[in-house]
Amino acid sequence: MSEQPHNADSNAGVEWGTPKKYVLPLSNAIDGFDLDPASGAEPTPYANTRYTKEDDGLSQDWFGHVYLNPPYGREHNMDWASKAYNEVPNCKSITALVPASTSTRWWQKYYAKADVFCFVDTRIEFIGAGKSGASFANVICIFNSQNLSEQYFRELSRMGTLMKRLQINEGSVFDY
Ligand SMILES: C[S@@+](CC[C@H](N)C(=O)[O-])C[C@H]1O[C@@H](n2cnc3c(N)ncnc32)[C@H](O)[C@@H]1O
Repeated sequence: MSEQPHNADSNAGVEWGTPKKYVLPLSNAIDGFDLDPASGAEPTPYANTRYTKEDDGLSQDWFGHVYLNPPYGREHNMDWASKAYNEVPNCKSITALVPASTSTRWWQKYYAKADVFCFVDTRIEFIGAGKSGASFANVICIFNSQNLSEQYFRELSRMGTLMKRLQINEGSVFDY
């Protein structure tokens, strides 16, 4: 069933799948994602291991190279953001496609701690979201970017503007 595009803080977007053109080039650049912890809406699997709603990806251990496009909406954003952030030390990398809601608490507290960001240059036509695409911008947040290949970032750069986080410590600017 198709849902109309909606604001990212509403409960729309729970079953919106990522179009293949965003996932496959990244997946190919690392010989496949190991885990998709919020899975089910995609027509073909995006990772070797998938957790669906029945498995509950929020209560499982995450590992390897993770591709995450979590359920969007007020009820879900904080839980998935905090779970992703807490799993970073256990994973080779986490690639999270999320709304670019940069002023929200869940984004600031967790996704803002990623080390590389790709601000997607178009409104994504999510699978199941209807023809006009999302009514909000998206950002792909990368944690543990040091474990990803150069080819990965080349592919990512075709999807939007890449930015790296800077950390300011006692007057010095460190490349995070
Ligand atoms: C936004 S869709 C993304 C699907 C797919 N990963 C993709 O990128 O196309 C989120 C998916 O997570 C599933 N889901 C919802 N709650 C979940 C949970 N607690 N654990 C795992 N998956 C869940 C939904 O059924 C839905 O298929």
